[in-house]
Amino acid sequence: MREFDEKSITQAVIARLAACDDPRFARVMTSLVSHLHDFVREVSLTEAEWFTAISFLTDVGKTCTDKRQEFILLSDTLGVSVLVITLNHPAEAGSAESTVQGPFYWEGAPELPRGSNLAQGVRGEPAFYSGRVLSTDGRPLANALLDIWSGDGEGNYDMQIPGETGMRARGRIRTDAEGRYWFRSIRPTFYPVPTDGPVGRMLRKIGSHPYRPGHVHMIISAPGHLPVTTHLFVAGSRYLDSDAVFGMKESLVVQFERHPAGAAPDGERVDTPFYTVSYDFRLRPAVATAPDHA
Ligand code: BEZ
Ligand code: FE
Repeated sequence: MREFDEKSITQAVIARLAACDDPRFARVMTSLVSHLHDFVREVSLTEAEWFTAISFLTDVGKTCTDKRQEFILLSDTLGVSVLVITLNHPAEAGSAESTVQGPFYWEGAPELPRGSNLAQGVRGEPAFYSGRVLSTDGRPLANALLDIWSGDGEGNYDMQIPGETGMRARGRIRTDAEGRYWFRSIRPTFYPVPTDGPVGRMLRKIGSHPYRPGHVHMIISAPGHLPVTTHLFVAGSRYLDSDAVFGMKESLVVQFERHPAGAAPDGERVDTPFYTVSYDFRLRPAVATAPDHA
């Protein structure tokens, strides 16, 4: 057949994949084409609407730089990132749940001694974090690595601060022989995802707010175990029930206990009120099977 109508076009496009020698790719593309065509038929998409979508995606691409990933932000705000994560990292045997990495990860944060203050000179209320990294069978994991990052107490990440070129509120901490970690940083606050680009325009058009609840990010890894990209969320923070990127997991919400100025857990004197927070992360052994894509 050389000419197609609004129904036969879908099978014709799928048929072009007949010679594809990658079965998984062919399956994904077949499904993508079917859903995309169904969507166009279902909403009777106009040419003007399709052109608007193309220019929106073009803008998303043009907004990406080496410090800004607008496509990830689009995936995050459409819930696709969390859907992919949830499918690929089911919470099993009490293992720490995964959530979005977000666009503000910066590889190569300094490895610091346990107890270090990651947020030296960063605005925000002091918070002392501690806990353990364990295998799902309860065995403490020595030498596990916590790669930690957060915004400041006003919700700004170093990358977002004009003129700031260095890392702030970031660091990597290893666990001791008993799997314990501890460090000082700040109590993170809620903040908006970047709204000065096309995704911000989309959120305003939808009528959705752009805020994420207060959280600190961590990637936790240990020999022989599956790494986890996760957060700790501040219990009671605004927007826990309407995270703009759908990344909130109840199991990651923790109490930040408030203390008056005085002696901190590490013995140092803090002259403002401060917080303590404790959380144990359980990692799955690396032999766990990957999800079946058949
Ligand atoms: C973040 O938590 O850093 C983040 C996650 C997704 C989109 C924007 C920011
Ligand atoms: Fe964040």
